[in-house]
Amino acid sequence: MDKEFSMLRNKEIVIGVTGGIAAYKTAELVRALTKKGASVHIVMTKNAMEFITPLTFQTLSGHPVIHETFELFAGSKIGHVALSDIADQMVIVPATANIIGKIANGIADDFLTTMVMATTVPILFVPSMNTKMWESRIVQENLQRLKEAGYDFMEPGIGDLACGAEGKGRLPTIEEILEKMEDIFTEKDLIGERILVTAGPTTEFIDPVRCITNRSSGKMGYAIAKIARRRGADVILITGKTYIELPRRDITIVEINTAHEMRNAVMEHYKNCSVIIKAAAVADFKCKNENYQKIKKHGTNSILSIELERNPDILAELGRLKGHRILIGFAAETDNIMEHAYEKLKQKNLDLIVANNIAKQGIGFGSDNNEVSIIDPKGNTKHVPILSKDEVANIILDSVKKVMKKRQRLKEDWY
Ligand code: PMT
Repeated sequence: MDKEFSMLRNKEIVIGVTGGIAAYKTAELVRALTKKGASVHIVMTKNAMEFITPLTFQTLSGHPVIHETFELFAGSKIGHVALSDIADQMVIVPATANIIGKIANGIADDFLTTMVMATTVPILFVPSMNTKMWESRIVQENLQRLKEAGYDFMEPGIGDLACGAEGKGRLPTIEEILEKMEDIFTEKDLIGERILVTAGPTTEFIDPVRCITNRSSGKMGYAIAKIARRRGADVILITGKTYIELPRRDITIVEINTAHEMRNAVMEHYKNCSVIIKAAAVADFKCKNENYQKIKKHGTNSILSIELERNPDILAELGRLKGHRILIGFAAETDNIMEHAYEKLKQKNLDLIVANNIAKQGIGFGSDNNEVSIIDPKGNTKHVPILSKDEVANIILDSVKKVMKKRQRLKEDWY
C-alpha cells in the first residue's frame, strides 16, 4: 500500500535553475519531488552550469536537461511538444537577483526566460542571494512587480550565507519548498476559518530535573495544523514540547509545557476560532507539590511517593463554552475503543471524536501513520484505514467541512 499523500504525484514539474551557489540544493529538491511521484524537467541558465552540471540533473530527473536557448526535446519522452504545454507548475530555484530582474523587465533571452513568458501555469520563485542584494531597492521593486503580475514567491530564510555574511537570503529548506508547491495545488476550501489545534505532550514537573510526560511526538496535531493551513484556514497551533520541525512559518505557534499552560493558552485563543481540534495528549494528573530543588536520593527511603492531583480537563471545559464553534476531540484508547470514544464525545459535548487505538503497533504515538475512526454525535462512524498522518489529517478536515455544510443547510432550511 502506498501511504504517501501528495498533490505533486503524477504532476509535470518544470524547475528553472539559475546561477547561485544554492543551485546544488536544487538537486535535493529534484530527488524529493521524484520520490513524491512527480515527473521533473530541468531548464538551466548558462550561469547555473557554472555551479552544477546538467548531467547531475539528468541523472536525478531521468529527463534530458535543457540549457540552450532554442533546444528541442530530441530523445525525450515528450518529443518536441513544448514543455510549457505539459507543465503543471514551474518553480525557479534558486531565483537570483538577475533572473528576477530580467523577468520583471520583460527580457526573454534564453530558454528559461522565454518559457516563463510563455507559461500560463503557476510559477513559484524561490529567491536566494546575499542579504544586501535581497534588500536592495531594485530587487525589491522587481519582486513587487512580479508579485503584482501574479507570480508566487517564497521569503528567503535567515542565517549563515555562502558568502560568509549572516542575514536574510538563504534558500528555504527543501521541506518548505515542497510544502509551498503542495499549497499551490491545493483547493482553498477552508478560507475564512480560524482553526485552533493542540498537539504534542504536556510536561508536569516533579523537580527541576524530572518530569511526567508521555509519548506524543506532535506529528498528528502538526499534520492537522499544516493541512488546515494548506487548505486556506488561519491556524493557531498550541503545542507541548516536541522534537519535530514546526509545520509551517505562516502558522501562529504557542509553545507550552504543562496542562495548566495549555489550558490558559486555549482559553486565550479559542474565542476567535471557528473550529477547535484537540490532538494533544494532555496529562490528567500533575504533582501536588512541585519541588523547586532537585530531590536527593540519599536520606530517603528506597520508595519515594509522589502525590498527584487532577489537571483541568480542557476539552470538557471547551465543551461547555464552545457556543457555535465546532469542537473535535481525540480519544487514545487501548480497549473497547469505540464505546469509550463515544462516551467521551457525549460527556464533553463534542461535534466529532477521533478514536485512536494506541495499543496497535505502527500507528498512534510517534508513528508517521495512523488509523482512526471518526464518530459523530449520532454514532455514525467513518473508519480511516492506516494512512500517513497528513492524509488522516486531510480526512479529519473533510469531516469538519461536512459538519460545516450540514449546519449551513440547516440554517438555510430554517429561513
Ligand atoms: O503526537 P503523536 O505522536 O502523533 O500521537 C498522536 C496521538 C496518539 C497523541 C493522538 O492521535 C491522540 O490520540 N491524541 C489524544 C491523546 C489523549 O490525551 O487522549 P485522551 O483519551 O486521554 O483524551 C481525550 C481528549 O481530551 C483529547 O482530545 C485530549 O486532548 C483531551 N484532554 C485530555 C485530558 C485533559 N486533561 N484535557 C484534555 O483536553
